[in-house]
Amino acid sequence: MAEYVVEFGKDGRPVEADGRLDAAAFHRNHQAIWAVLEKFLAGKSGDVVEAGSGTGQHVVEFARHSPDITWWPSDLNEQHLKSIEAWRAHAGLANIRAPLRIDLSDPSWCPEMRDGRGPAKLLAVFCANVIHIAPWRVAEGLVAGAGRSLRADGRLFLYGPFKRDGKHTAVSNAVFDTSLRDKNPEWGVRDIEALQELAANAGLVLNEIAEMPANNLILVFARQ
Ligand SMILES: C[S@@+](CC[C@H](N)C(=O)[O-])C[C@H]1O[C@@H](n2cnc3c(N)ncnc32)[C@H](O)[C@@H]1O
Repeated sequence: MAEYVVEFGKDGRPVEADGRLDAAAFHRNHQAIWAVLEKFLAGKSGDVVEAGSGTGQHVVEFARHSPDITWWPSDLNEQHLKSIEAWRAHAGLANIRAPLRIDLSDPSWCPEMRDGRGPAKLLAVFCANVIHIAPWRVAEGLVAGAGRSLRADGRLFLYGPFKRDGKHTAVSNAVFDTSLRDKNPEWGVRDIEALQELAANAGLVLNEIAEMPANNLILVFARQ
């Protein structure tokens, strides 16, 4: 496991005996996120990969609302993979696959998508609160992989805090950015324009910015 990956999901309810972690933020943000995803996913079928699933709570919540979509959670932290699997078993939903081990810093993710053990072409890639708590190469790998694996009508959804034109959109985000960089100089709130550049190299274009509570955004990328 990469040394920069922090354990996550211990700030909510106590860890369950089966390994289910609980992230406090999940309870605050999942409804607003689903409202954006739903606009695109409603009435569609296909495969959706969640990158950096963390506890696994988002994928369970979203899969419950979309029985025609097959959800593929993923992460690279052992405790998180265990938690995702435990949430999957707990939910008992037929449309959530076993978590994939995807290291987004490897731009060739993921072997299962090439050897038939995973999905082939994706309706969407969803990634929440990952790229600012990871080195820039994680954003690079995420966007490159999305560009390679999205269907013609597919979308990449990126949720989190972002800078616009190099400027923070709120004081709280600036404070958060400083605290991230203090922990690890390779982390930090990312600039939308820098992500657009990555997207352009991957054949993607930013086609929507959705405002979220607590000064977060969802960036929606589509094929050019
Ligand atoms: C702050 S947590 C967010 C989890 C979840 N998406 C959420 O919003 O609740 C960041 C997640 O990114 C994962 N992560 C960090 N570096 C990664 C990498 N290189 N590849 C894949 N996942 C990574 C961590 O293991 C962790 O689960």
